[in-house]
Amino acid sequence: MRTKHSLLLSLLSLLFFFLPHSHSQSQDGSPNTTGYTCSANQSSVFTYPCQTYAFYRTRAPNFLDLGSIGDLFSVSRLQIANPSNVTFPNTTLAPNQPLLVPISCSCNSVAGNLTPNANASLSYNEFNPSPNTTTSISYANITYTIVAGDTFFLLSTSSFQNLTTYYSVEIVNPDLVPTNLSIGATAYFPVFCKCPNRTQSNFLITYVIQPEDNITSVASFFGSSENLIVEVNGNNFDPYTTIFIPVSKLPVLSQTSVVTPVSSNGTKEDKGKVIGLGIGLGICGILLGLLIGLWVYREKKWKKRELARERDEEKLGEKGGKVKGVFGKGVDLNLLAADVSDCLDKYRVFGIEELRAATDGFDEKWVIHGSVYKGYIDGGLHAIKRMKWNACEELKILQKVNHGNLVKLEGFCIDPEDANCYLVYEYVENGSLSSWLHDVKKDKLSWKTRLRIAIDVANGLQYVHEHTRPRVVHKDIKSSNILLDSSMRAKIANFGLAKSGHNAITMHIVGTQGYLAPEYISDGVVSTKMDVFSFGVVLLELVSGREAIDGEGKLLWKSVEGILEGTEEVKETKVRGFMDGVLLRETSSMESVMNVMGLAVACLHRDPSKRPSMVDIVYTLCKSDELFFDVSEDGLSPRQVSAR
Ligand SMILES: *[C@@H]1O[C@H](CO)[C@@H](O)[C@H](O)[C@H]1NC(C)=O
Ligand SMILES: *[C@@H]1O[C@H](CO)[C@@H](O)[C@H](O)[C@H]1NC(C)=O
Ligand SMILES: *[C@@H]1O[C@H](CO)[C@@H](O)[C@H](O)[C@H]1NC(C)=O
Ligand SMILES: *[C@@H]1O[C@H](CO)[C@@H](O)[C@H](O)[C@H]1NC(C)=O
Ligand SMILES: *[C@@H]1O[C@H](CO)[C@@H](O)[C@H](O)[C@H]1NC(C)=O
Ligand SMILES: *[C@@H]1O[C@H](CO)[C@@H](O)[C@H](O)[C@H]1NC(C)=O
Ligand SMILES: *[C@@H]1O[C@H](CO)[C@@H](O)[C@H](O)[C@H]1NC(C)=O
Ligand SMILES: *[C@@H]1O[C@H](CO)[C@@H](O)[C@H](O)[C@H]1NC(C)=O
Ligand SMILES: *[C@@H]1O[C@H](CO)[C@@H](O)[C@H](O)[C@H]1NC(C)=O
Ligand SMILES: *[C@@H]1O[C@H](CO)[C@@H](O)[C@H](O)[C@H]1NC(C)=O
Ligand SMILES: *[C@@H]1O[C@H](CO)[C@@H](O)[C@H](O)[C@H]1NC(C)=O
Ligand SMILES: *[C@@H]1O[C@H](CO)[C@@H](O)[C@H](O)[C@H]1NC(C)=O
Repeated sequence: MRTKHSLLLSLLSLLFFFLPHSHSQSQDGSPNTTGYTCSANQSSVFTYPCQTYAFYRTRAPNFLDLGSIGDLFSVSRLQIANPSNVTFPNTTLAPNQPLLVPISCSCNSVAGNLTPNANASLSYNEFNPSPNTTTSISYANITYTIVAGDTFFLLSTSSFQNLTTYYSVEIVNPDLVPTNLSIGATAYFPVFCKCPNRTQSNFLITYVIQPEDNITSVASFFGSSENLIVEVNGNNFDPYTTIFIPVSKLPVLSQTSVVTPVSSNGTKEDKGKVIGLGIGLGICGILLGLLIGLWVYREKKWKKRELARERDEEKLGEKGGKVKGVFGKGVDLNLLAADVSDCLDKYRVFGIEELRAATDGFDEKWVIHGSVYKGYIDGGLHAIKRMKWNACEELKILQKVNHGNLVKLEGFCIDPEDANCYLVYEYVENGSLSSWLHDVKKDKLSWKTRLRIAIDVANGLQYVHEHTRPRVVHKDIKSSNILLDSSMRAKIANFGLAKSGHNAITMHIVGTQGYLAPEYISDGVVSTKMDVFSFGVVLLELVSGREAIDGEGKLLWKSVEGILEGTEEVKETKVRGFMDGVLLRETSSMESVMNVMGLAVACLHRDPSKRPSMVDIVYTLCKSDELFFDVSEDGLSPRQVSAR
């Protein structure tokens, strides 16, 4: 078995031009598991999914700070700092510091059987798990974006420190060709984990055995017992195998003294630590210096502008003197630091140079529209939005939200030079829904796709309305703020006008003609129901393919008044007249279209309290979706089934 594997590895080494050195390393034993099986059914004693931890060591040069480790595992710095006994602002650590990284462990079925095909005459990328068997393996699904030079092997053995193996990565990413990873592609890294059985300890910490470890030292380090460890893992304690350490409580990691299983040699460590501390302090110093400098600079500038600003604000008429942007006037240094560090925890802070490089100095040709640019950062495409200081309000709102149907904020950049704030988002490949509906050059969307988009948007809105405290109102839902990804799934973008807080009154009417709810225009009432109204208009656009406001200024929503009055036949005739011609040619979608029209009309009710909530809307749309699939069995595509 071992020779077969070394052969496979040699093959791999050749493929990736490995140094002979790393090849010889793989011979002293390579982790060769494809994963740990699990069963997650109701009758099982195991409690999938669960929250657990992976043991990770800081490593030079790339993984010495909580930020980069957090980014790798998609968790915040704070989420690592707390269980790891690291004082939070201390984000730069010495090499080999022990950390506990929180992961969500779930039981996932993968296609194929789990014995890797180690037939040496088969080339590496022909590794072919059987397509009609499925096995469940437990892992934490970590999303990773491929950058130049990445290979599954290097990533699993270095960045992920053998918490996964390339065999397993291959199985979980059947769509990616391991020898031809394209930069910017998304890979899922299965970080091994296990959930405890109901009678067991509270956690199973994922740990990779180090050459200097023995079971006694590991058990004592984690405050577990040898027997329990053997019970869970069997007797294989070869170096670099993953084991699961049962503990009833998290071990308290000591970050200052030399940790036994982690290091075999003290002197080098301590030097590293001193250097690490030096670097840490240096970075903190620089950051503090920058912040103070920034603040002093802003303060000066504001003194000059204060009068002008005050006049401006009166004009805007925003009532209640609400806190301005992150760097609003009168903000003291502490507040400023707190605000930024809050974001630092969750987001990457980009340097202005990095953004300039990505966009050729904000060159015209990188403009997506308005002040939104696209650019490659670390090999991946991103959308970069430039705005003025007070637009950092959007940052505050986006900090609170995280949902698959909302465009994801990756980070931000503050440029004190020209008082601009830049937000860096994920790039959504297929552009806006508006362009798909109204641009004659594009293929027409099928009703199924449109319905799916409506459900995605409704899900995203339901999330911002129901799962944020205080509630967030988007205030600018329209087809051009709905973006479509590569598989035509929708994401809501542009929280630039969004407001935290429900049932507020504003005198400052913003938004887009054609989508604005009447009560908002007349009385300035801001509530989640104004988003419901705008969503109703988007539904009309989806059904009709027409614009929310036409060339003559006629409102789309006004044109459907009374459309659902009369007998079934009359109604259907009227709706057919309103529908996008392309949809008329599709068979069997009429019933679903009528349902959506009914919903749209309800959303457009003049009385906001009579409009349905997003929760009702999601429910109704999903029902409509089912109905549609019931009647068009043949049109059922696998993706749409799995999406449900
Ligand atoms: C590789 O797998 C085989 C069984 O499949 C096992 O006997 C062997 O110990 C494994 N090697 C290592 C280094 O884990
Ligand atoms: C992962 O395992 C390989 C052996 O397969 C070893 O050479 C490498 O050093 C390990 N990586 C880490 C970070 O321990
Ligand atoms: C649940 O899992 C157990 C253990 O894997 C298996 O024996 C049993 O048949 C499963 N039950 C169902 C309903 O799938
Ligand atoms: C900060 O990190 C350094 C380097 O790892 C460590 O020596 C120091 O104890 C840490 N300080 C706190 C307060 O955690
Ligand atoms: C390895 O694969 C080749 C080609 O698929 C096949 O001819 C050969 O019999 C296989 N060897 C083993 C030991 O399975
Ligand atoms: C797997 O599918 C193929 C055809 O797709 C079939 O011939 C074979 O019997 C299947 N194997 C098993 C184990 O079901
Ligand atoms: C991993 O998570 C992503 C979303 O975060 C999901 O799209 C993907 O299907 C997941 N993969 C597996 C194998 O669970
Ligand atoms: C690698 O992938 C790219 C696109 O993903 C493709 O154009 C190219 O032909 C592939 N190269 C090889 C050698 O398969
Ligand atoms: C669950 O844990 C208990 C105690 O550790 C053990 O005796 C039992 O065999 C475990 N059950 C399963 C299904 O692993
Ligand atoms: C385990 O390692 C420790 C030192 O790290 C040593 O004192 C102990 O004897 C070792 N135990 C075994 C069983 O090898
Ligand atoms: C937590 O870390 C601090 C230094 O970072 C250390 O002084 C303290 O002993 C650690 N706590 C425990 C219980 O080890
Ligand atoms: C520590 O490393 C030095 C060289 O770096 C070596 O001479 C010494 O023997 C090592 N000590 C231990 C305990 O391994």
